Amino acid sequence: MSNETPGNAEEAPLLSVDGVTLRYRTVSSLVTATWRVSFTVNQGDRFVLLGPSGCGKSSLLKSIGGFLLPDEGAIRLKGRSIARPGPDRMMVFQEFDQLLPWKTTLENIMFPLQASGRLTDRRAVGERARHYLDKVRLAKFADAYPHTLSGGMKQRVAIARALAMEPEILLMDEPFAALDALSRRRMQEEFLGLWQDIRFTGIFVTHSIEEALLVGNRILVLSPHPGRVRAELINDGNQALHDHIQGMLFDERFETGAGI
Ligand SMILES: Nc1ncnc2c1ncn2[C@@H]1O[C@H](COP(=O)(O)OP(=O)(O)OP(=O)(O)O)[C@@H](O)[C@H]1O
Ligand SMILES: [Mg+2]
Repeated sequence: MSNETPGNAEEAPLLSVDGVTLRYRTVSSLVTATWRVSFTVNQGDRFVLLGPSGCGKSSLLKSIGGFLLPDEGAIRLKGRSIARPGPDRMMVFQEFDQLLPWKTTLENIMFPLQASGRLTDRRAVGERARHYLDKVRLAKFADAYPHTLSGGMKQRVAIARALAMEPEILLMDEPFAALDALSRRRMQEEFLGLWQDIRFTGIFVTHSIEEALLVGNRILVLSPHPGRVRAELINDGNQALHDHIQGMLFDERFETGAGI
């Protein structure tokens, strides 16, 4: 996919991740998940974090979400340091069970709007929720409960719920990875359609090169253990990019860091 609207690089970035080292302390060990990772995300970017299992993609997303504070470095949203979770950063996870099972799809979308105080007028909450449910083409399922929906439908509700909050940035951790291949492909297309429509800013985590090239306009390739930036690429639709990334992720020379 070529990128029609990469963020305007001349403007200050929406998000800046600056030399971020993330660590987990357990009773018996200290795990370094990422090492001095830096990147910026501009308004309107579909920014992909790509790398093998364990390279710290989810950890980075958690730290942008404000759930995990950096050991070193800083993360800033619109120039303000991120210190805690907030409704300006909404997450969508891989799991299908992220919806509240006792609430209908519409109520699931309404819930964070009300709980966060983002909207107070009940009517406005309902209207906003319906608007986004319609955006993911599930208007007919407003009164359905999550257990009656397919995995792909549940993910669409989760995306609608996050978008309804109109966050500064949407954080997606492998949102389509648990879907079958056909549904996954359909969701990737729908995701792009939604972006064309709403032009939100998103960070999308994946370990699939194909998915990164389909959904992203910019791709950050991370190396494993601990995650470091291996390359930052602009997805210009060039066919050679796939092999280039594959080389980075699998080529021995790159394992030593000699290739970059
Ligand atoms: N809560 C935790 N406690 C201790 N170590 C953790 C914790 N969460 C993650 N880690 C470790 O941090 C490193 C990065 O994990 P992370 O989940 O961020 O990787 P990932 O790139 O998202 O992997 P995957 O593609 O498998 O989801 C791994 O070595 C992992 O074992
Ligand atoms: Mg992960």
